[in-house]
Amino acid sequence: MIKYKINPEISVEDFIDILNRSGLGERRPVDDKEIINGMLEYADIIIAAYNNDKTVGIARAVTDYHYCCYLSDLAVDKEYQHQGIGKALISKLKKSLHKNCKIILLSAPAATEYYPKIGFEKHNSAWILK
Ligand SMILES: CC(C)(COP(=O)(O)OP(=O)(O)OC[C@H]1O[C@@H](n2cnc3c(N)ncnc32)[C@H](O)[C@@H]1OP(=O)(O)O)[C@@H](O)C(=O)NCCC(=O)NCCS
Repeated sequence: MIKYKINPEISVEDFIDILNRSGLGERRPVDDKEIINGMLEYADIIIAAYNNDKTVGIARAVTDYHYCCYLSDLAVDKEYQHQGIGKALISKLKKSLHKNCKIILLSAPAATEYYPKIGFEKHNSAWILK
């Protein structure tokens, strides 16, 4: 059975490992431990999914808990995808927030068909300053 923990202890190595096992590692700075460490240290909400002691999924968000929540990383181990873990991580994230708080994200190309399936609406005026 998959278990979930909110804000668990998670090492830089474990975070990099789950990013890589999901495929998201290709799109995250997994070679820069300073950034990865900062992503863990300054995130507001991290929810992790475990099969026994193995991390099989993670959601990492930055938020004020009331108005907006940026879901930066959602990653599920390839061997555990399509079992509802991604959906469960988002549902648990929602439960950690005020009911009116919006969840905002930028989809990875492989997940553009995923978010509309689980209730997200596309926004045509998202902007990034790189
Ligand atoms: C995208 C991702 C997080 C989805 O997690 P998951 O646990 O496999 O998703 P779920 O099992 O909760 O899927 C919920 C529904 O979406 C569908 N779905 C899952 N991945 C999908 C995808 N990439 N594209 C379209 N639909 C998808 C499932 O079939 C399921 O539909 P159903 O309820 O009709 O069966 C996971 O595939 C992943 O980690 N991908 C690689 C990293 C990535 O792209 N992350 C997103 C970064 S923004």
